[in-house]
Amino acid sequence: MDTVTDPTRHRILTGDRPTGRLHLGHYFGTLQNRVRLQDIGVELYVVIADYQVLTDRDVADDLTGHVEELVLDYLAAGVDPARATIFTHSAVPALNQLLLPFLSLVSVAELGRNPTVKDEIAHSRQSAVSGLMFTYPVHQAADILFCKADLVPVGQDQLPHLELTRTIARRFNDRYGAGVFPEPRALLSKAPLLLGTDGTKMSKSRGNAITLAAGADETARLIKRAKTDTERHIMYDPDGRPEVSSLLLLAALCLDRTPAQVADSIGAAGSAALKKVVTEAVNEYLAPIRARRAEYARDRAHLRTVLREGNERARAVADTTLAEVRAAMNNNY
Ligand code: TRP
Repeated sequence: MDTVTDPTRHRILTGDRPTGRLHLGHYFGTLQNRVRLQDIGVELYVVIADYQVLTDRDVADDLTGHVEELVLDYLAAGVDPARATIFTHSAVPALNQLLLPFLSLVSVAELGRNPTVKDEIAHSRQSAVSGLMFTYPVHQAADILFCKADLVPVGQDQLPHLELTRTIARRFNDRYGAGVFPEPRALLSKAPLLLGTDGTKMSKSRGNAITLAAGADETARLIKRAKTDTERHIMYDPDGRPEVSSLLLLAALCLDRTPAQVADSIGAAGSAALKKVVTEAVNEYLAPIRARRAEYARDRAHLRTVLREGNERARAVADTTLAEVRAAMNNNY
């Protein structure tokens, strides 16, 4: 992750689709970083992308539940609603209205070339590709630009969307007046590639993930089932022994050590010993996060207040930006 030298000069926007609970891959890939940046004084906006979630499923089932689970994960991880703004797309009309002028600034050919969208279409469970699938990156530009965020912490797959956001900001400024939008830059997280318990990428949809919400026993069960190899000597070798190495990395992240140090502490004791170390490390690391999560989960009214207040703040910011955009575009009537 790049360093941020003067935190108070930046505004960060990032977000997630509400598709289920967040897992350790999310935590070490981005959540932990968001909280770190918030804690050094960067202004943080987090969008719960409840319109974007419609790109890859026909029905948004239990959306309210998913949104609340996300808020719980954020709060448990340390996002502080007194300082950070957590909001949903659907509650901020002026953000959504930016989509229309922004759409006019990009060509259909450009939208069709987006490699992340192409990949998502290839893996989509929708029977037909919706218009939203092609245009959601432009909507994502509205997420980022409505609050004039200048930094966007994302993973590699989001870089095409960020490039498009920069293009839209530049074209808007060129066409309608300099300086309305900043050209935000990506804060590329060195997201450690955590594998799921089946040895493929940890992912909500593959059922191979350890969620923040999982109990200690469930975590132990999941790790016990995790794929490893038969070599007794435990060594960190991500290319040659990806499953063992991912477990070592996970323990190392939790213990604040290097994977090689963790491997040395296990030596020739084999996979069972490795799994024991990983289970203890994960459960110990997550214990305070899980305790906070359970506490917040008991107070649904508080969750709704967090969202209501976040949405109000986001609406005020979006209204101001839309007013500027309308003025720049001569929509003065
Ligand atoms: N597209 C992102 C994802 O799938 C979620 C998202 C929506 C986002 N709006 C954003 C990320 C704005 C960063 C900035 O994970």
